[in-house]
Amino acid sequence: MADKQESTGNLKQKLEEIFDASLKLTVPDVPGVEPKITISKRKEDYQCDNVMSLWPRIKGKSTHIKSSLALGQAIVENLPTSEMVEACSVTAPGFINVTISTKWIAKSIENMLINGIETWAPTLSVKRAVVDFSSPNIAKKMHVGHLRSTIIGDTIARMLEYSNVEVLRRNHVGDWGTQFGMLIEYLFEKFPDTDLAGDISIDDLQSCYKKSKKKFDEDPVFKKKAQLAVVRIQGGDPVYCKTWAKICETSRTECAKVYQRLQIELEEKGESFYKPYIPSMIEELSDKGLVEESKGARVIKIKGLVKDSEEAPVVNNKGLVEDSEGNKKRDSNTLMLVKSDGAYTYSTTDMAALWYRLNEEKAEWIIYVTDVGQANHFETFFKAARKAGWLPENDKTYPRVEHVKFGVVNGEDGKKFKTRESKTVPLTDLLDEAMTRSKAAITKRAEEARDAKEWTPEEIDKTAEAVGYGAVKYADLKNNRSTPYTFSYNTMLEDKGETAVYLLYAHTRICSIIRESGKDIDELKKTGKLALDHVHERTLGLHLLQFAETVKEACTDLFPSVLCKYLYNLSENFNKFYLNCRVNGTAEETSRLLLCEATAIVMRKCFHLLGITPVYKM
Ligand code: ARG
Repeated sequence: MADKQESTGNLKQKLEEIFDASLKLTVPDVPGVEPKITISKRKEDYQCDNVMSLWPRIKGKSTHIKSSLALGQAIVENLPTSEMVEACSVTAPGFINVTISTKWIAKSIENMLINGIETWAPTLSVKRAVVDFSSPNIAKKMHVGHLRSTIIGDTIARMLEYSNVEVLRRNHVGDWGTQFGMLIEYLFEKFPDTDLAGDISIDDLQSCYKKSKKKFDEDPVFKKKAQLAVVRIQGGDPVYCKTWAKICETSRTECAKVYQRLQIELEEKGESFYKPYIPSMIEELSDKGLVEESKGARVIKIKGLVKDSEEAPVVNNKGLVEDSEGNKKRDSNTLMLVKSDGAYTYSTTDMAALWYRLNEEKAEWIIYVTDVGQANHFETFFKAARKAGWLPENDKTYPRVEHVKFGVVNGEDGKKFKTRESKTVPLTDLLDEAMTRSKAAITKRAEEARDAKEWTPEEIDKTAEAVGYGAVKYADLKNNRSTPYTFSYNTMLEDKGETAVYLLYAHTRICSIIRESGKDIDELKKTGKLALDHVHERTLGLHLLQFAETVKEACTDLFPSVLCKYLYNLSENFNKFYLNCRVNGTAEETSRLLLCEATAIVMRKCFHLLGITPVYKM
């Protein structure tokens, strides 16, 4: 037991284990009691809150436990001995307070310093997950919504990977559907030489896409041609497919630039990838009696029945239904599998992709990161998948699906984030701007500190990149993702408050404290001992040990903001320690340098999980 405790750092999980053992002993006749352990709201470290809900269930039934207070005391008495717990107390009517042993905190940190932060990785119950993120649409430029999906999805993937989950990072690009028929037909008209139609820049593609859409809506002859083109692409016509492939390649090159700058790894399996799986999937659903004919279309009704008189709903690529007045709304009760013209929809592909992910890729957890506007789409097809028996009824058991929704990005004027000419901001421009601004700030700071000579131009560029992109990422991740967020270069690049700049700066300060000591920190790690006698040392030490449970919570609830908050509080706790405890040249120097090093290691791991490159001087 002691060995196991030393090797990992998941404090909360260990507390749950010992309280679980005690609960089983104390109330053996009450089944399914899960220990409720939280960080203390009182002055102790943790609290156990089981008594309040447990007491009414055993009241009058137990011969020896006569009050809620006695129940609390019994739970404490039955706790297995553990060197982790210093003391437990019970206050009326039954609150259990836990104080963690300071020695144990120190020992756990020493262990991490020797064996690495990987030993603090939380354990999750899933082995393999799909994270479907970024997923832009071919022939259109990526917009800030895709940036949010990219940043949030990457962090979720990183946190799961750290927790030893095998993550399939999936770029579900929109490379298929009616829009390609319109676009290709339009390009063929504009450039009768078909080879030219494929050699086109992303800007031209985007503008042709808009024009083709207009023509599609206005010109019925063109509309027919475009619909036929879709069938041709889907049927493998070589001329159409060649142009289609070239358009995809142009878009891919454009997206790759953004991924490379932000260090995002992704494997593209676009909508078209799942095409071969569609017919057998529809057959399976039909065999299960789920598919209904409705005016030539094939649909799955989630609730209720299609009335005979009911028109087949007109559902577009994104699952929007048009009502009689032409207003678009979502019909979350109908999943359109095959439209009356034989075309498949966004939902058809998503059903096939889900089938593939469950059966071929054997993923236990499938996570989709898109804006909240697609909530109905996901809800509908999740329901259809449950109806088909692909997913369990209980949405918390595995295999499990999750729509990680995020809010829109607003500009500082409170309106949707756009350029001055009210155009969508190209992501490459946005990243350039963040980098330019951070470079100016770093150059200025170096000049003011009169150490400009110490910086090579490459160093400045590398730091500006880390800080600029880090600022964009952190500003996004620190918010509760489901709410809209205001994009502001000024706020995100401020060197105070909850910004990447402040946090990266805090990290460089810790590194310079260690550098200035002149000590070989790797040697100290092997032999040095950590003492946490000062209250601020202990607070910082305990906070460090709460890293694993924080990552676990962020992974389980899929909220990266939880980790951002932790990182910010960590640097606040470090500041308090540093203000109150001198490090260099004191009797406690070795111990305090080790605490600095442990803080720097945990900070760097947080940066890594948030996709931010740490810097060592600034
Ligand atoms: N391409 C879609 C869009 O830009 C996002 C795709 C998300 N993934 C999925 N499996 N539906 O809105």
